Amino acid sequence: MFILGIDTSCDDTAAAVIEDGRRILSNIVSTQETIHRKYGGIVPELASRRHIEMIWPVTEEALRVAGIALRDLSGIAVCYGPGLIGSLLVGCSFAKAISYSRGIPLIPVNHIEGHIFSSFLKEDGSVLDTGFPFLALIISGGHTSLYRVDGFGLYRELGKTRDDAAGEAFDKVAKLLGLGYPGGPVIDRLAKEGNPEAMTFPRAYLPGSYDFSFSGLKTAVRLEIQGSVSRKSEGFVRDIAASFQAAVIDVVIKKVEWALKDEGLNVLAISGGVGANSSLRSGLVTMAKNWGIKLFIPPPSICTDNAAMIALAGYH
Ligand code: KG4
Ligand code: ZN
Repeated sequence: MFILGIDTSCDDTAAAVIEDGRRILSNIVSTQETIHRKYGGIVPELASRRHIEMIWPVTEEALRVAGIALRDLSGIAVCYGPGLIGSLLVGCSFAKAISYSRGIPLIPVNHIEGHIFSSFLKEDGSVLDTGFPFLALIISGGHTSLYRVDGFGLYRELGKTRDDAAGEAFDKVAKLLGLGYPGGPVIDRLAKEGNPEAMTFPRAYLPGSYDFSFSGLKTAVRLEIQGSVSRKSEGFVRDIAASFQAAVIDVVIKKVEWALKDEGLNVLAISGGVGANSSLRSGLVTMAKNWGIKLFIPPPSICTDNAAMIALAGYH
């Protein structure tokens, strides 16, 4: 059984083919980073226009790499939200047209549910069996949430961000530092050479809750930058990057520890673009080792938006 997955929720046009829920045959992503970079963030109207141009070439490529044709598909899974409405409309209209013309089922998939499924995916195309239950951390430009997952379709949200998503905070801090968009990868790189203790930024632990909050941290970083005479120096930028990143990671790891302990879980799955952060990854690996936790953390290319996760969720 071949399922085609489509995701156009934000600024990536993505299509993928999965066979029998076990093997990713293709996973094609066309990013729009170069289009949005000069604006320091995503421009929704430009994103949807680019999706219209790219949706068929990307799908054609996904079918070609998988070695199948449209007539071989058993179903089409499409991300219906959350996301940018104009962008989502392109993927949904396209998927509906294929479903109607081929007479195959249209399977709507929630983007966050897709991210939960991406923890099962390996870069070589194989699909892992994590077993249930597990704790899922979805940490991206749009979301920072913790879910208890008891089975396919059985999710309970434990907490989410009350304001900015973690990735959004990375992007905004990068913009303040004039580092361009997306901010996560460049802050990740600069933080390696900076001192994480150079500035003491606030950590919103919000005791008694699994919710997150990053807006106070973002304001503290802005005030630090505006108040510094050396704000243009390379050393200062590296130290801000390292100190900001450390504040985000400390809170995320602490919340994950609380949720694992309180829910009595010993399996943790990560997804979302910020899951590509090298420091967060090594912090989680160390935590998992110390606590005897089984950790599923997909490669960076699968942490970020893709359609293989949508196809896999659609299959189940
Ligand atoms: O999951 P994703 O591709 O799209 C959303 O659903 O949001 O995540 C994109 C976000 C951006 O905010 C980007 O800055 C962040 O993930 N990101 C990173 C890294 N790579 C991407 N954040 C921190 N460190 C990274 N290495
Ligand atoms: Zn996403």
